[in-house]
Amino acid sequence: MPPKAIPEYGPFLVFEGVEGAGKTTQASLLAEWLELCGKKFTISREPGGTEVGEAIRHVVQNRPDIEVPRKTELLLYLAARAAFVRDVVRPVLERGELFIADRFSMSTYAYQGYGRGLELNEVYRLDRFATDGLVPDLYLVLDLSVETGRDRQKASDKNNDRLELSGDEFLEAVRSGYHELVNSDDRAHLIDANGTIDEVHNRVKNLLRREMPATFALLGD
Ligand code: TMP
Repeated sequence: MPPKAIPEYGPFLVFEGVEGAGKTTQASLLAEWLELCGKKFTISREPGGTEVGEAIRHVVQNRPDIEVPRKTELLLYLAARAAFVRDVVRPVLERGELFIADRFSMSTYAYQGYGRGLELNEVYRLDRFATDGLVPDLYLVLDLSVETGRDRQKASDKNNDRLELSGDEFLEAVRSGYHELVNSDDRAHLIDANGTIDEVHNRVKNLLRREMPATFALLGD
């Protein structure tokens, strides 16, 4: 019998950025566009996407009364990621379908590495353990000043307990971490998140058509 062909992994793309940059809005707009074009895809957020991930999300995001040391914080995000990769992402990619994530490993590098100051090589190593080496094909990093991000969050009335607790210095370190990470990774691209939601959406679509033509070039407007 001829050997069975190894199935092609589907494309895996990830939205990243500091709070208020519009990741979640842009991920939803992309999903709407793909639905209109009849393209099959799955979208999910991190931390979350699984029952244990949502429980971890609750502790790290909605319980500012619990003190979470920075190594514990790192391991909680990675614990959620291990389940997310195994139960949510891989099955979709193994079917050859598109997966879109709202945050992934680059958030950990930026927030726990650059932001909290944990040793980057350790963060990379532990993240590889959690993901079993799964790496996205493309990172879209929405870039906005910390100040504008804060203004947008206030205007959107979003629960920003965590944001209020993180000082500007922390978020500036996260943002410049994202810049460094993009500079050292060909698969990561910075997108200017200033302007209207539609302007940013068009930047996202143009970038996807350019960087992932096999998946996006033939989709209409
Ligand atoms: P979001 O709902 O705005 O995406 O917020 C997620 C928060 O979790 C945000 O403050 C960034 C933080 N986070 C980390 O610090 N490390 C991680 O690995 C992930 C996935 C998120």
